[in-house]
Amino acid sequence: MVSDVIEQDERFLGILDRLTTKSVDDYYNPYKLFEWPDSLPERMWWMSPELTTTYGTEVAERLSQEQLYALSRYESINFYSLNVHGIRELLIEVTRRIHTSGFETPSEFFHHFIGEENEHMWFFAEFCLRYGGKIYRQPGGAAAEIPRSGVESLLVFARILIFEELVDHFNARMAADERLDGTIRALNRIHHQDESRHIAFGRELVTALFRKVRESSGEQELKEIADYIRRYMTFSFESLYNPQVYRDAGLADPIGLRRELLDSPQRAEAERNVFRKTSRFLEKTGIIR
Ligand SMILES: [Fe+2]
Ligand SMILES: [Fe+2]
Repeated sequence: MVSDVIEQDERFLGILDRLTTKSVDDYYNPYKLFEWPDSLPERMWWMSPELTTTYGTEVAERLSQEQLYALSRYESINFYSLNVHGIRELLIEVTRRIHTSGFETPSEFFHHFIGEENEHMWFFAEFCLRYGGKIYRQPGGAAAEIPRSGVESLLVFARILIFEELVDHFNARMAADERLDGTIRALNRIHHQDESRHIAFGRELVTALFRKVRESSGEQELKEIADYIRRYMTFSFESLYNPQVYRDAGLADPIGLRRELLDSPQRAEAERNVFRKTSRFLEKTGIIR
């Protein structure tokens, strides 16, 4: 079903070809690429302050510079932990589909995608374990469940795209942030470079899958898809607010703090900001209204 869509789509085929060639040309050995110093300085930002969950809030005003640094350190470990979990999930889904009926055409690209994501998961996990001593547990929640239905592949690839665009918003900014340590910037820069290909592919595939789903779905089903996608975006964004992070940074009442931050006007603005381009894309294709 999917391959029919892609096979007839000259534009998509051209893009797929170009992205695959670029994957081959840009290939690097991640196991040799990074320096991995024994430790990173503690008295500095580990995450751009504007990207931390307390930025601009009353909570941040109550904290010392020391606490803000510590918080940015744990939030950065949480961010890379979310990457590890997100990548594991997307690898499972893409691996389930490669070389199966409907996915013949993108299978060549999937090989690069799977290989690159395996390496991303390695360097993110490495960072967490070396400099944080752990990987934070995966957040739970109903929105993480993928309903089994005819639109499953659309939802799977829309989720992958949303996850990759969310992460990329952070990667692009941290790669360019001179306040951060070189190791942190390099990690973000390399990931951003690979993800620009994955996102370009994801947008094409999601567009093609949705076109097909729209042909055979009623108004109610399309509304349910839109609702699901919106819930998933909110769920993904809220996973940045991890009470265990606040606990590790030594802040009182981590659960209450999380609630306060999620309810703050700064959160709404940050969420809009992070998903600005993603929302525009999803609206333009008609997936969300
Ligand atoms: Fe990745
Ligand atoms: Fe990716």
